[in-house]
Amino acid sequence: MKILGIESSCDETAAAVVEDGRKLLSSVVASQIDIHAVYGGVVPEIASRAHTEAICGVVESALAEASLTMDDIDAIAVTNAPGLIGALLTGLSFAKGLAFATGKPLVPVHHIRGHVAANYLVHEDLKPPFVSLVVSGGHTSLMRVNDYTEYSLIGCARDDAAGEAFDKCARVLGLPYPGGAAMDRLASVGDKNKYKFKAGSVDGAEYDFTFSGLKTAVINMVHQETTQRGRVMDEEFKADVAASFTEALIKTINTRLELLLKTEGAMNIVLAGGVAANSHLRSAVAETAERFGAKLYLPPLKLCGDNAAMIASQGYFEYLKGVRGDTDLNAFATKSV
Ligand code: KG4
Ligand code: ZN
Repeated sequence: MKILGIESSCDETAAAVVEDGRKLLSSVVASQIDIHAVYGGVVPEIASRAHTEAICGVVESALAEASLTMDDIDAIAVTNAPGLIGALLTGLSFAKGLAFATGKPLVPVHHIRGHVAANYLVHEDLKPPFVSLVVSGGHTSLMRVNDYTEYSLIGCARDDAAGEAFDKCARVLGLPYPGGAAMDRLASVGDKNKYKFKAGSVDGAEYDFTFSGLKTAVINMVHQETTQRGRVMDEEFKADVAASFTEALIKTINTRLELLLKTEGAMNIVLAGGVAANSHLRSAVAETAERFGAKLYLPPLKLCGDNAAMIASQGYFEYLKGVRGDTDLNAFATKSV
């Protein structure tokens, strides 16, 4: 069964074709990063307009790359939550129109479930149940994936997501948006013990995350050192800040993972989301998993960030479960997983 996936929840317009949830036939991603970089972050209205301009071409390219036409497609899967509402509506409206015009079934997909499903495309043996940690620009969620379409939340970010903290710290260091990848490279040459940063915890919710305080501590320290004390923001300073921030962020993620493994024993763990591309996080989580005898599944770098292949993959499992959308299907800025 061939599913056309469509994704437009943030600043990537994406379309892909996936067969039976696991076989990637094509994946096209049109990034808007250059447009938003000028503003240091995503401007929602500009994102919606850019999606409108790109979506037809991106879907056509995804079909062409798979050497298919709409006649070969069995269903259309589309991200309808969570995300920027205008951005989501652009992809959803397009998908609804396409489904209506072609008579193909429409399947709504939760963006976070999509991130997890990116792993099905590369790990043939991966099957629920497992625990998944999705770390992205908009979300930090630790979840139980009881079945392909049955999720329960263990813990999530109460304020900024991990990727957002990466991007804001990168911005104060003068790195272009989104700064996660640049922070990753800088952290590799910095001293992680140079500055003592610490992410907070949430009283009574040991698996929840809070990164806002960590982000503010980094921003304040950089301002104090540079603006007030006159320190030059050279490469060494940037690298030490990036490494120390990354260390604190990883520690808070690892602490929760360790607690879960200690409490429940070895299990299968699936990492996903844009920040899952971070080399330091990947090796830290791998080390923790190994220590507890847990099996870790990592998505390939090209499927960590937003793409539509992950939406088409999850769409297949939602389709099998009977999930369908009609012309009244709506988009939601927030929605539990
Ligand atoms: O999953 P994603 O594409 O979008 C959301 O659903 O939010 O994640 C984007 C986020 C951005 O914050 C970006 O800076 C971050 O992923 N990111 C990274 C790395 N590559 C991308 N963060 C840390 N290290 C990386 N190597
Ligand atoms: Zn995402």
